Amino acid sequence: MYAQMVKSTGHGVKPLDEMDPQERAFQERIDAGDKIEPKDWMPDGYRKNLIRQIGQHAHSEIVGQLPEGNWITRAPTLERKAILLAKVQDEAGHGLYLYCAAETLGVSRDELTRMLLDGKMKYSSIFNYPTLTWADMGAVGWLVDGAAIMNQVPLQRTSYGPYARAMVRICKEESFHQRQGFDIMMKMANGTDAQKKMAQDALNRFWFPSLMMFGPSDKDSVHSAQSMAWRIKMNTNDELRQKFVDQTVPQAEYLGLTVPDPDLRWNDETGQYDFSEPNWDEFFDVISGNGPCNTERLNTRKQAWDDGAWVRDGMLAHAAKRKSQGIAAQ
Ligand code: 3HC
Repeated sequence: MYAQMVKSTGHGVKPLDEMDPQERAFQERIDAGDKIEPKDWMPDGYRKNLIRQIGQHAHSEIVGQLPEGNWITRAPTLERKAILLAKVQDEAGHGLYLYCAAETLGVSRDELTRMLLDGKMKYSSIFNYPTLTWADMGAVGWLVDGAAIMNQVPLQRTSYGPYARAMVRICKEESFHQRQGFDIMMKMANGTDAQKKMAQDALNRFWFPSLMMFGPSDKDSVHSAQSMAWRIKMNTNDELRQKFVDQTVPQAEYLGLTVPDPDLRWNDETGQYDFSEPNWDEFFDVISGNGPCNTERLNTRKQAWDDGAWVRDGMLAHAAKRKSQGIAAQ
């Protein structure tokens, strides 16, 4: 169903007086801060846009396990390994909550997975960059999970009930993830010269890709206007990017590290940092499938899907047998 709907995404926001009565009543509920629940009437565009965003978000959580999974066997201590393992497992849980939220909109998890594997749905650009050293585990937790929280805390107030409720739990866990990343960075930044160098190198490589996580600049954002009118998004991409920079720069200073942006400076007039735009050509290249790790990430997901076929088949056979015996599914 979703695949046929994708092509008809509209970019403009229909004025209230051009809406039919049902659409207008829906918009008025959104404007009044009501939560929309799965059985409520909703415009096709609302459903389609939510499936796109929640599905992309779910895929990001699952693909996001890969760069960190790379370091579980190489964590420097037993404690670090246990923490990283717990974090990566949390991401699987986040994916699950989000796939479940998407399913309430009438799309199956299998269908979403198929579209990811066929390259018809996206996942976050950030996970197409490699994690080269242990310091990258610090930078990912600190910056990537930090950016995710900045984006996701407002989504706890998003208009679609199942999505908003999933975000509450996800945000609690993401806060722990961000703290563990910052903790690794503190250890590295206060360690030997070689460790400090690794921490700076990780910040150098992850800074701009983290800024890209918020999406293209507002003028190039296709979905923001309609998504904000429907409260599927609560802020624009540029607003959140600015908040992230303002929050993160003092943290880098505390670590004694340098943000790799020669144009970064505090602006007394705006009360915010001025900073350089990420390289948007690189961003669009990465989300078109040409980032450093796109092929590897998708191949890994395909392999995992194929390897899991016997489990899915077994569970379906088990469910069918129980059904034929008149035993309710649990
Ligand atoms: N990576 C990949 N694609 C991106 C992107 C990114 N960082 N930012 C934007 N895009 C894509 C959009 O999906 C859209 O393409 P599409 O029409 O084919 O779907 C296109 O670029 C234009 O961008 P828009 O600004 O119009 O898109 P959105 O309005 O959807 O805004 C968003 C992008 C801010 C990421 C928004 O979708 C959002 O808030 N999503 C929910 C949060 C989310 O998905 N986070 C993933 C982060 S990773 C994570 O949470 C894992 C954790 O463990 C770290």
